Amino acid sequence: MRRFVLLCCSVALVAPLVRAAGDAEAGKARAQAVCAACHGANGLSVSDSIPNLAGQRAAYLEAQLRAWKDGSRKNAVMNAIAAQLSADEIPNLAAYFAAQTPGTGKSAQFAGLSKPPIVFPEKERGSFVRYLTIDMPANKQVRHYLANPVALAAARAGKPLPDGSFILVEAWSARLDADKKPVLGPDGRFIPDQLAGYTAMAREAGWGDSVPDLLRNENWTYTLFNAAGQPRTGFNQAECLACHKPQDKVSYLFTLDKLQAAAAR
Ligand code: HEC
Ligand code: HEC
Repeated sequence: MRRFVLLCCSVALVAPLVRAAGDAEAGKARAQAVCAACHGANGLSVSDSIPNLAGQRAAYLEAQLRAWKDGSRKNAVMNAIAAQLSADEIPNLAAYFAAQTPGTGKSAQFAGLSKPPIVFPEKERGSFVRYLTIDMPANKQVRHYLANPVALAAARAGKPLPDGSFILVEAWSARLDADKKPVLGPDGRFIPDQLAGYTAMAREAGWGDSVPDLLRNENWTYTLFNAAGQPRTGFNQAECLACHKPQDKVSYLFTLDKLQAAAAR
């Protein structure tokens, strides 16, 4: 009788600790399929702007993931990722990265994400319509947002943007006065001076297939071009995908309402 009592009570004391510890093996698949795109499969990240997770305390990593999930810690990319994690898998992911060996190297980006299939629309460029202009005082730029006919037609019909859609953003440096302040045109807006480059998002059948589920934006892929329309390297498409993913109800755009309003005119 006495032995039974002891057994019962020690189990009750130990159980919550065991549950909190997480299972590194159970976290491995998702860590390597998704988190690795930025933090590396071994917890050594792909760039200096992304922290290493290898060997950090599991309880700390777990607390950060919960904070991203409930929004009390803010970062657009990690809020979007953690929102998609279940409460059960958070301890497992934390345990997985805590079990990796700290180090100094950098991990490679995902091969499937590092060369987006988007080609600069050299020939079709003339058919794109500008639907929005935004002045960006912080970096003294003005951006022009353009959509191709497929995207415009869907927006006009109030339908989600289908395969074949292409959104191109021109980033122009603003013309500056002698005090290096942007000059305003007659419409009160910045005046484009030099084309700095482009950001783009486009979708075609099959383009999303190599993107891990948690990052996938249906068939959209994202890229950057220099002013000559050549693809730029040195960015991580996983960050584009992660940040645009919460826009899934609005065709993964931040500016769909503006596109719809312009298409209706
Ligand atoms: C698209 C890139 C990207 C992906 C994918 C990603 N992260 Fe992150 N993660 C970041 C960035 C960027 C930060 C730094 C954010 C900040 O400090 O504001 C970060 C920070 C963190 C932190 C906090 C680390 C610290 O030292 O405070 C944890 C924990 C974390 N990520 C876990 C994960 C897990 C687990 C996954 C997979 C489910 C994941 N991340 C996937 C980009 C990513
Ligand atoms: C931190 C979140 C974040 C990241 C990361 C991000 N974007 Fe965006 N993106 C936005 C926001 C917010 C807007 C709308 C306002 C603006 O243009 O800044 C936008 C707008 C766009 C647009 C215009 C269509 C739309 O969604 O309204 C394109 C094209 C685009 N981004 C491409 C990219 C590419 C390419 C990358 C990766 C190199 C990227 N974005 C990374 C937040 C993000």
